[in-house]
Amino acid sequence: MLDGSTGTWGLHHPGKCSGLGSFRIRVSEALVLIRTTNRDAYKLMTSAIIPRPIAFVSTISNEGIPNLAPFSYFSMVSHNPPMVSISFSISRRRPKDTRENILSTREFTVNIISESFVEAANATSVESPATTDEWILSGLTPKPSLSVKPPLVHESSVSLECELYSFQDICAPRTSHITTTVVLGLIKHMHVRENVLDDTGEAVDPGKLQPVSRLGGVRYGRVTEAFELPRIDWDAMGGSYNGLLG
Ligand SMILES: Cc1cc2nc3c(=O)[nH]c(=O)nc-3n(C[C@H](O)[C@H](O)[C@H](O)COP(=O)(O)O)c2cc1C
Repeated sequence: MLDGSTGTWGLHHPGKCSGLGSFRIRVSEALVLIRTTNRDAYKLMTSAIIPRPIAFVSTISNEGIPNLAPFSYFSMVSHNPPMVSISFSISRRRPKDTRENILSTREFTVNIISESFVEAANATSVESPATTDEWILSGLTPKPSLSVKPPLVHESSVSLECELYSFQDICAPRTSHITTTVVLGLIKHMHVRENVLDDTGEAVDPGKLQPVSRLGGVRYGRVTEAFELPRIDWDAMGGSYNGLLG
């Protein structure tokens, strides 16, 4: 077992939580966040809601132009059915090609970025004309998918072939101006390279995959250290909890 926990928690004792300072924005003032400028909310939220996994998304436009770009408003939604979500921020200046392509073709692949090619992946986030082929720009290698047209990223050790399940446009409160689109993708195939699996062969070893995450600003994060914490067994703990109730 990898033990990186503080080991100070006990029933009814939160453990050692060092460095608890005062709040700048209290929960009761959460609505203030909606009234702050978009830029402030963006900075505060993207630096606080961390680390965010990154979907490296490959799509093809209706006209056949391939596209590749990273998105960190990304999460696993469910394993049954296997599903992921990605959110696109919509600027007045320029639509996101990835969003347009997914909505029009209903197909995309999500590839996990390992540290070995993070610079190439980062280069694809350049705000370029829709006709730009980020595969050429980045030097990354397209590999045919099994069931969707957009290719997989050969350099990725974990890739998902997805079809659009549904999407939701989101407007700022009391406006009809769409600022964000959330896309749900149903995973049709999942590809995992054998050499990133752990000893059981059933799960991915983060030390081998070396995935990068997104932090605030232009920061990326590493998963450098993992520790295990078994879930609590109620049969063992329940009696003590009932004792606390008096
Ligand atoms: C690591 C990283 C994460 C990003 N995450 C998002 C995101 O979650 N949503 C978004 O709209 N843009 C995000 N961006 C910006 C897009 O990648 C960028 O706008 C890109 O040009 C979009 O490409 P496209 O127009 O070809 O789809 C991110 C950029 C980087 C470098």
